[in-house]
Amino acid sequence: MDKPLLSMKGISKYFNGIKVLDSVDFTLNKGEVHALMGGNGAGKSTLMKILTGVYQADEGEIYIEGNKVTIKDANDAKNNYISMIFQEFSLIPSLTVAENIFLAREPKNAIGILNDKKSIARTREILKEMEIDINPKDIVGDLGVGYWQMTEIAKALSHETKILIMDEPTSSLTEKETDVLFKIINKLKKKGISIIYISHRMDEIFRICDKITILRDGKKVATEQCNQIDMETVIQHIVGDDLDKSFEWKERYYSTEGTPVLEVKNLTSGSKVKDISFQLYSGEILGIAGLMGSGRSELARAIFGIDPINKGEIYIKGKKHTIKSPSDAVNAGIALIPEDRRLQGLILDYSVKENTILPILSKLKKGIFIDHRKANMITEKFVKRLNIKTDHIFKTAKLLSGGNQQKIVLAKWLANDPEILILDEPTIGVDIGAKTEIIDIIRELADSGKSIIVISSELQELLAVSDRILVIHEGRNVKELKRKEIHSEEVLQHAIQGH
Ligand SMILES: Nc1ncnc2c1ncn2[C@@H]1O[C@H](COP(=O)(O)OP(=O)(O)OP(=O)(O)O)[C@@H](O)[C@H]1O
Ligand SMILES: [Mg+2]
Repeated sequence: MDKPLLSMKGISKYFNGIKVLDSVDFTLNKGEVHALMGGNGAGKSTLMKILTGVYQADEGEIYIEGNKVTIKDANDAKNNYISMIFQEFSLIPSLTVAENIFLAREPKNAIGILNDKKSIARTREILKEMEIDINPKDIVGDLGVGYWQMTEIAKALSHETKILIMDEPTSSLTEKETDVLFKIINKLKKKGISIIYISHRMDEIFRICDKITILRDGKKVATEQCNQIDMETVIQHIVGDDLDKSFEWKERYYSTEGTPVLEVKNLTSGSKVKDISFQLYSGEILGIAGLMGSGRSELARAIFGIDPINKGEIYIKGKKHTIKSPSDAVNAGIALIPEDRRLQGLILDYSVKENTILPILSKLKKGIFIDHRKANMITEKFVKRLNIKTDHIFKTAKLLSGGNQQKIVLAKWLANDPEILILDEPTIGVDIGAKTEIIDIIRELADSGKSIIVISSELQELLAVSDRILVIHEGRNVKELKRKEIHSEEVLQHAIQGH
């Protein structure tokens, strides 16, 4: 039998004396798409960072085609034809696509001057092969996040690559962009390139992966062919055996009599939000459904004062409010947890605690001092409920895993206890166990009288959490559905697609 392309054996890794990888074995064959799954903080990114020379393993060996290799840095990874697309973007927004791709190793001409033409031509070639429509001369910062991702892939493929690692590549892609990515993956696979694919999205895994390996608390718990394992078993392996599968809708009671807490009338903003009207009552959870690009996030941004409102009015408890900036919105009792939490909302050099209490500092003041006992208590509470994996609450946010960083941003806004809370894709990047917890917390907040708007592209999640669902199509609200009247995901899907 052929030797596997890659074999990682007995990999262990400690951070500050804590074992985050425990004797992990991982094998990858040529042309295989291999999913790496596990809860937030399970060790997925760390294992892959060991493979790419970002970190060194404390124990264990790496073999490529049967030969033992040492990967000390990015150069060693490159020499072994390994590329990685990191969970945190590595592009420089002020540079062009071509400049980013050839950063630090631009083709130089005889006298050592940057040979721009060559890198542009080469970039064009790579993009063409990927069938992606981007101009190499475009400034990355001006492109949508989806294009950032494509640029990252092009960058990885600009080296000769045999193993391509993708760490949650779709968390910021639209559905259409995800389809494009999957096409690219299939193409690469046909060319014999092997892909290690990290994701929390179960549907994706079963769509494109051949094999799946699951880590839990730094240990490998399973490796299976995808067609020989079902979703239930995968979930069980990820969370251990204590999953509370309360991903179900619960009927809730609140009053829709009297004045709504928030009323949006004929709101128009930019080109994406057109004449939208709705009401939100105290204690209500309003879901917003629509295809990607339908204007869901833009609606949230307009209400929160990020994007200017061209027409229409916002009433809070019956009183008209002019919201021209996020601080106007905060003063009016509104909070927005944005979709791109990786770029917004978290101060990486601050600790878990400092980040969590940031919006409530004024409430924690005791005279001129901060009530640290209370601050610690609040932070501990959220760390426990959201199962944020950290040694202690004083750990710097940048040392936490990607998903755990996401959870801190959620904790931060939930702790703030706003009157009106808008959550844009609250469970992106968050593992399956914490999803249920987040849904429960949203319900609890609503039970305590808060009014909540949830935007989500995961219909199952939207159906579980919403009391009422507003369907948006091309910037307009086309339907309002009472949750009680929706019997299946299919009904909602039809409403969204408009047929
Ligand atoms: N540089 C570091 N210093 C200290 N601890 C770290 C460091 N990098 C990662 N860790 C810890 O190692 C553990 C594994 O993190 P890792 O990023 O590999 O998780 P992950 O499986 O990728 O999770 P996610 O799904 O949230 O991205 C976490 O507990 C994390 O806090
Ligand atoms: Mg990770």
